[in-house]
Amino acid sequence: MKISQDFVEELKFRNRIEDVVSGYVTLKRAGSNLTGLCPFHSEKTPSFFVSPVRNTFHCFGCGVGGDVITFVMRTENLDYISAIETLAKRVGMEMPADTSDRKNELVRRGRIYDMNKCAARFFNSSLSGEDAVPAREYLQKRGLTSLAVKRFGLGFAPPKFDALRNHLRSEGYRDEEAKEAFLCGKSERTGNYFDLFRNRLIFPIIDNFGNVIGFGGRAIDDDTQPKYLNSSDTPVFKKSLNLFALNYARTACSEYMILCEGYMDTIAMHMAGFTNAVATLGTALTTEQARILAKYTKKVVLSYDSDEAGVKATKRAIPILADVGLEVKVLQINDAKDPDEYIKKFGADKFRMLVEGSRSKLDFLCDSVMKKYDISVPDEKIKASNELCEQTAAIYSDVERDVYIARIAEKLGISAAGFRNDVDRLRRRNTKKEDAQRTDRIIAQTMGFGDRVNRERSSNVKAARAEEAVLGIILTYPEMAVKVKNGDIALTVDDFVTEFNRRVFAAVISDDGGTDLGMLSQIFNVDEISRIQSMMEGRADLNRNDEKTLIDNINALHDAAEIKSEQDDIAATMKLIQKKKNNHT
Ligand code: UTP
Ligand code: MN
Repeated sequence: MKISQDFVEELKFRNRIEDVVSGYVTLKRAGSNLTGLCPFHSEKTPSFFVSPVRNTFHCFGCGVGGDVITFVMRTENLDYISAIETLAKRVGMEMPADTSDRKNELVRRGRIYDMNKCAARFFNSSLSGEDAVPAREYLQKRGLTSLAVKRFGLGFAPPKFDALRNHLRSEGYRDEEAKEAFLCGKSERTGNYFDLFRNRLIFPIIDNFGNVIGFGGRAIDDDTQPKYLNSSDTPVFKKSLNLFALNYARTACSEYMILCEGYMDTIAMHMAGFTNAVATLGTALTTEQARILAKYTKKVVLSYDSDEAGVKATKRAIPILADVGLEVKVLQINDAKDPDEYIKKFGADKFRMLVEGSRSKLDFLCDSVMKKYDISVPDEKIKASNELCEQTAAIYSDVERDVYIARIAEKLGISAAGFRNDVDRLRRRNTKKEDAQRTDRIIAQTMGFGDRVNRERSSNVKAARAEEAVLGIILTYPEMAVKVKNGDIALTVDDFVTEFNRRVFAAVISDDGGTDLGMLSQIFNVDEISRIQSMMEGRADLNRNDEKTLIDNINALHDAAEIKSEQDDIAATMKLIQKKKNNHT
């Protein structure tokens, strides 16, 4: 649902930030600002500031910042629309009526939500049916208690082709709608509609608003293929943007979250007290999902299956999680194939020890290389050493690298000095760009912080500065954003060099985003909002923010981008020459 800028502005005008924040924090005056103890991290001296003039807040301790909508989203753990509703209620404003186009779309989606809920109820009540004896036995066999059934709304799809279809018809839903929701299929031959989920245990997938958005269905015997049938993407469901049990996990714990492969694993963990567990929905982890996790936590414990496929998936997931700034740990499961089986076999306490003892990502990679090669064979030992050399060379911190060099040398039974030489040589050989990034990281680490929000910033400082000036201006002066959108001012996403700033720009000119921090909060996490806010504040103190300044900065951005691509070209050429040289010697 799109709320108009006008409405948001009035809402923010009536909900003064200092009034709303005072409900949570005792504020004292400090010049033109107010200050208090930050509600988002624990502290003894105040570093949390509220600016009534700008209608924003910012914490210098933990970096959280935003406007009154962001504040309510964060403190009450609400999505954007709910935060708007809360604030509207607070000052007695009526929520805006939807416009017609949007309205039709909303009606269509609303019907699917309702139909999904209806289907979920049907599946759930089918669990007590006569033909559900095998399903009930299966539940028992898998240790799914009535509590688990209730909490996750589990159900059973009867072994018929028309059970759900007839039920949905009787509730007034059309067959085509059921097809659109991936509940029914249509036979090409007869043109008849039939149930897609048959004789399966049903796991409803529920979003943060409590809507049933899709289903996973597990076969209750070992012969049926596929083992799991999942809803494909529908108007209300995108697999790559959702996680199973996130509706519970996001409120459970912000310290870390557990990411596993399966529905059964997730449920087993929740029932064992790990209500911070989530699972992907039958696909490989996506960057969007990683970003969603980063919105709720700083650390992810990867807890995939212990088989080869699980290890592979873990290796793929590590960089995806790390790239959005999450700390990654990897759980090691021995003597069980997955968390579900482990908990059944050894109990929740043992599992907790496993979680607490989960390895750093390098220890994980090290272990998996050791398993792959037989290091008593010289050739294999060299291969193992080379592979680990690559992993070790990729470590940014000198101290950390030292620790691993010593540990790996000992494990492989090789000389640490020799291994260090290999690592160092590889490091020198790495591309210029990687070198630059690594240096930035070391600098950032020694300064005590890293740029988690815009990771490409430090290697593209000139371009990033121009981008931030551009964004700061169009965010502060929405009329400029309109000109950009209309094409009166030439600027497109392709002009942006750093990915984060490109995303911000895309959001600002999109129909769902706009120039309001509150509106952008539905797209960006709090850290990102804080950064966007500082781009705006960066302009607020300057008196030259006219169209010419904007165009000057766009030109500066073009120049920086050009220089950058020339440098990349040069670096690539140098690399080629170096490679040729190496081949000759
Ligand atoms: P697993 O095969 O590991 O199943 O698939 P599981 O979760 O351990 O289930 P149980 O314990 O055998 O009942 C892990 C996940 O991969 C997806 C599902 O999301 C499943 O939970 N999957 C698996 C599919 O989407 N389709 C399949 O056919 C199999
Ligand atoms: Mn399993």
